[in-house]
Amino acid sequence: MIVVAVASGTSADGLDVGLVDLRVEAGATLGLRVLATWTEPWPDRLGERLLALLPPASSTAAELCALDTAVGQAVGAAAAAAMARAPETPALVVSPGQSVHHDVQDGRCLGTLQVGQPAWVVEATGLPVISDLRTRDVAAGGHGAPLASVLDGLWLAGGPGPRIALNLGGIANVSVVAPDGSTLGWDTGPANCLLDGAAVRASGGRLACDVDGAMAARGRVLPELLDALLSHPHYATTPRHRAQLAEGVSTGREAFSAAYLDRMLAEAGNPGWDDVLATLVELTAVTIADAVRSYAPVEVVASGGGTRNPTLMAALARSLDVPLLTSDGLGLPAQGKEVVLWALLGFLTWHGVPVTTAPAGTRTPRVLGRISPGDAPLVLPSAIDPPTRLVIHALQDRGPSESAAQRSETTISSGRSTSGN
Ligand SMILES: Nc1ncnc2c1ncn2[C@@H]1O[C@H](COP(=O)(O)OP(=O)(O)O)[C@@H](O)[C@H]1O
Ligand SMILES: [Mg+2]
Repeated sequence: MIVVAVASGTSADGLDVGLVDLRVEAGATLGLRVLATWTEPWPDRLGERLLALLPPASSTAAELCALDTAVGQAVGAAAAAAMARAPETPALVVSPGQSVHHDVQDGRCLGTLQVGQPAWVVEATGLPVISDLRTRDVAAGGHGAPLASVLDGLWLAGGPGPRIALNLGGIANVSVVAPDGSTLGWDTGPANCLLDGAAVRASGGRLACDVDGAMAARGRVLPELLDALLSHPHYATTPRHRAQLAEGVSTGREAFSAAYLDRMLAEAGNPGWDDVLATLVELTAVTIADAVRSYAPVEVVASGGGTRNPTLMAALARSLDVPLLTSDGLGLPAQGKEVVLWALLGFLTWHGVPVTTAPAGTRTPRVLGRISPGDAPLVLPSAIDPPTRLVIHALQDRGPSESAAQRSETTISSGRSTSGN
């Protein structure tokens, strides 16, 4: 069946859209074909309004209501555009919404709030909509984030040793995937969010990010500022044992806000912006490398917008002592991997498959999300067994103008990775 997924990450840089064909192929094998992924710009400076909710700003119920509506409408429009491109009528839309607050205190997640009222998405598409995919895991004692390990465990199993999936969004998250598919996942800290905050300030609001890492490439790393940044309490939560991961390790922009950055820079005597960006790139690289080193990975497979920052990728390659590649080489588009994850999570919810952010065996998985009926009466398929194997048939088309024709097929299963054509 075809699933439409529309999502925006912590960067709030636009709406990622995916058209993904998912089906049970045999037994517990899931077949996944990425038909297309692309990014739609936010209408009406909505991204800036969402970022303006972050601390130290306070917000009103009126503004939250307006944003809940505006995000829901934007997702609805993007989902309708995706539906028009689908080769057959999609079965459902997955819309996790935009995180506006992720409340982690003393290592526990007390709540998480995503806006994007799904009724608008149903109204725009007539399809059932699965939303609110984080809160059930929070209610069950987890953090509701990161959820990437659900896909990564299926996708990267079968390596010659542990493989690491690394997503470089506003926040960086990793999944450590053992050859047998067992997976540990957590947020290491900022990937782009501090970089974006510094780029906005450095350019007086002209730039939303340090395009191609140009400023950071001109700067030099400031060791004292780097040390001060490394004293952020989140890095001390880097998981050292499975019990800690069972409780969850996640973070958000609340902990790495523009206010935090301003304070750190003021204490460092407000250094020049190129040096600040170089130091923040180094911070992202060393905190990721430190977080994964003890797992002795054989490779790190990166995705997310940060893969488009060559200065960040070079710093990461220097800090990691193992090969760094991007997810495209293993069948999932680097810019669209998160939206493929949401499509998979929606498919699993639709089929009654429980999942968890915790390592296997530490916390009972739950069926995630909330289902809004579409125009037709809601008919759910029979529940399926949790998939244990994923076959990726993929060729992403990179933009609305390109064809979704399948020209090559990559199969990843049981330790073998083969590319045809
Ligand atoms: N050309 C580029 N140069 C530098 N950074 C980039 C570039 N393209 C994207 N990015 C970074 O990627 C971020 C978006 O990544 P994304 O994976 O969408 O994150 P999120 O999931 O948090 O929305 C941008 O905010 C920006 O920091
Ligand atoms: Mg994004």
